[in-house]
Amino acid sequence: MPNSNKLTIIASLLIIIFTNSVTSNYDDSFNEELFIKPLPSGHVSAHFQFTTIWNIPKETKYLEHSHLFPRGLAVIIDRHNIDELHISLTEGLWRYKTWGYPVVDAGPGTEIYAWFNENVKNVDQEWKGLTNALSGLLCASLNFVDSANSMSPAFSFRPLGVNSKPYNTSQLRYSSLPREIVCTENLTPFKKLLPCDSKKGLSTLLNSAYIHNTNYHSVGIHVRLICANSACTKTSIELKQTITLVYDNMIDYNQDWSIRKLFGMGLQGSCPLATLSNIYIDTSTNNTVHIYQLTPKPGDVIVSLRGGQRHEIAVYDVKKFTKNGLFSITAVHSKSRTTSINYPAILSANRYVVGFGQEKGSLVTKLYNNHWQAIDVVLLENIPWYLSVYLHTIKITRNEENIEPLVVKYSPGKERLQPYYLELIIRLPAHSVTKFSIEMDYLFLKWQEYPPDANHGFYMGPAIITAYLPIARNYTGLPIDGSTITSSFNASRPGYLVQLRTETILISLPTPDFSMPYNVICLACTAVALAFGPLHNISTKRLVLKIIKTDWKGKIILAIKAKLFGDKTKQD
Ligand SMILES: *[C@@H]1O[C@H](CO)[C@@H](O)[C@H](O)[C@H]1NC(C)=O
Ligand SMILES: *[C@@H]1O[C@H](CO)[C@@H](O)[C@H](O)[C@H]1NC(C)=O
Ligand SMILES: *[C@@H]1O[C@H](CO)[C@@H](O)[C@H](O)[C@H]1NC(C)=O
Ligand SMILES: *[C@@H]1O[C@H](CO)[C@@H](O)[C@H](O)[C@H]1NC(C)=O
Ligand SMILES: *[C@@H]1O[C@H](CO)[C@@H](O)[C@H](O)[C@H]1NC(C)=O
Repeated sequence: MPNSNKLTIIASLLIIIFTNSVTSNYDDSFNEELFIKPLPSGHVSAHFQFTTIWNIPKETKYLEHSHLFPRGLAVIIDRHNIDELHISLTEGLWRYKTWGYPVVDAGPGTEIYAWFNENVKNVDQEWKGLTNALSGLLCASLNFVDSANSMSPAFSFRPLGVNSKPYNTSQLRYSSLPREIVCTENLTPFKKLLPCDSKKGLSTLLNSAYIHNTNYHSVGIHVRLICANSACTKTSIELKQTITLVYDNMIDYNQDWSIRKLFGMGLQGSCPLATLSNIYIDTSTNNTVHIYQLTPKPGDVIVSLRGGQRHEIAVYDVKKFTKNGLFSITAVHSKSRTTSINYPAILSANRYVVGFGQEKGSLVTKLYNNHWQAIDVVLLENIPWYLSVYLHTIKITRNEENIEPLVVKYSPGKERLQPYYLELIIRLPAHSVTKFSIEMDYLFLKWQEYPPDANHGFYMGPAIITAYLPIARNYTGLPIDGSTITSSFNASRPGYLVQLRTETILISLPTPDFSMPYNVICLACTAVALAFGPLHNISTKRLVLKIIKTDWKGKIILAIKAKLFGDKTKQD
């Protein structure tokens, strides 16, 4: 009897668990997409996007039980009451002039910014907690983010998600760590956040050996709140995990590329949890820059008209194509690349430092507008506290002619407490090169503040240039109301938001001669070592006179003994 009782209890428990898991409706979805674009410069860019949408209000009781959404991230969002979070880990520089615009902009190094809920009172404390938690989640050194390298820019960032109240930038924090780079140890935790991990689906293509030898690679995590219905009475949480790669395809003679060549392996199947699992190839440069055939033939070819630009896109549904096993897409060129005129992107920028010596310098940012209209841009300069800049030295010129900025927002840095924050709104005239420059002094730090390789120099984070482009030429970004790459097809809008990031700059600050103490130590040690032996020898040994008594009789006896008994006695 007790046995059967136990069985019924177990059975009923199982039934309860089973029915629970079936009835509890998680109401979430996952999409995986890969967008490949052969660039006019001969490079090939590949952009992975994994989108998880979770239709729940952002409240603790819902966030505790996740299904497709990574629980580790859900807990962090809940704990720190975040409305929006953007992290990117990037190696390499996106070349806007020759590659156009990426789907997601990211500056070299690590960049993070977050919008905290308006109920968060002590934003700085939550920011510190958030970056520490994320550094554990992503194995990145985000714990180096503190108030000395964080700021709340007034114009450059707007919440990308829905907001019930007008936003207040006091809830925003932005920071960049230009020295942090992405590597394998960041990729593994990134893949762990995906519902299928790296077991199945497009994420199986993310092999570190084929990612870290690209010209540019960027890993991004973007969380925001979006409207759950058209009236926007309910919100959902959207998580976009992105990886952008740029391969140099010019080193090969025949320029052919394939999924197997780019990622080291073919695709075995789609993630079973994914609703949409697609590969898109932008074939617009076929017949102008290259001529190639795709094998196998795409399942569908769609035309996207966006902001006056026509794009032809080949679509492969991974679910269909992997039915018969391993699958790879190959582009076979019938003619080698023709050197055509590469029209540069309409807005681009670069930054450098002029001056010599280790005391003073001048920071120069050049903004290029190739459009026939004037474009208003927001320029955010993020200058670390150890480079003191002088506001009165700002010069904005175009062919020796001064340009007045429309708005200047500045807050001076404080040593070890806050960076210099400078934000300007500048109107760039049509077809122009505008030069912004500011003078700065290099500070002499305390000796403990230098990193172990002090003579390597210090990195300065990228400047951010934000603009609304009037046309979508070379633009691949998603519209603000879209979650998947599919939503960017035919998405014509009045303006196209771009945020360009400039180069990070390596500055050699005045460095004390760290080799001096080292030399002194070496010299002193050598002298001590040389002196120690004889001194020790002399001071520990007693000098005794040794008297050797030998007369001629003894010598003879010894000699005879030696003759008679051989060597043995001689030794005795
Ligand atoms: C930008 O787009 C134009 C027209 O679509 C194209 O001719 C040009 O090569 C593109 N430039 C870049 C840098 O992608
Ligand atoms: C933004 O928040 C800060 C601090 O909470 C407050 O002082 C400021 O008035 C707010 N600004 C607006 C426009 O609401
Ligand atoms: C590229 O153009 C050639 C010639 O017009 C055509 O045969 C080929 O199918 C095109 N390739 C793609 C991928 O559309
Ligand atoms: C985009 O619009 C064009 C013209 O209206 C249409 O032919 C095309 O099918 C649309 N593409 C998509 C993906 O909806
Ligand atoms: C120490 O002294 C002895 C003789 O007193 C000498 O043979 C030996 O080489 C000395 N050792 C050193 C390290 O100077």
